[in-house]
Amino acid sequence: MKILVINGPNLNMLGIREPGIYGKSSFADLLLLLDTTAKELGVEIEQYQSNHEGNLVDKIQWAYGKMDGIVINPAAYTHTSVAILDALKAVSIPTVEVHISDVDSREPFRQISYAGIACCKTIKGHGLDGYREAIEYLVNMLDKSADA
Ligand code: DQA
Repeated sequence: MKILVINGPNLNMLGIREPGIYGKSSFADLLLLLDTTAKELGVEIEQYQSNHEGNLVDKIQWAYGKMDGIVINPAAYTHTSVAILDALKAVSIPTVEVHISDVDSREPFRQISYAGIACCKTIKGHGLDGYREAIEYLVNMLDKSADA
């Protein structure tokens, strides 16, 4: 099973950016967590981070026919990008949306998620653990649909 984990703008600054909101763990710590999760669950994980909307769209399109599931934290583009929503709809790959912070208890503009419209689940406010939960959710879901 192959899962693509996509992170949007400023998530490469984890540990430096607003640690009171996003925590003290770095982006390298997140990559380590993805590696450990992949080994534990016996899945292949490809990770991608970009600060550019078009690159994120390109990577989602790239996943078509190659990846079984997507975990995406579109970061600020969550709240603005119809292009990312349309790309997710176009490839129609089961996708889980992750937010490190609890966006619901933040500014009103963070409570709109375009990408979320194309996702089968959203995990918010669980810190970096949310990525592991999202991967576990996809693995269970895809295992069940393979058995059916
Ligand atoms: C975020 C929440 C977004 O509102 C914000 O723009 C981010 C990170 C999160 O993981 O909590 O960059 O997606």
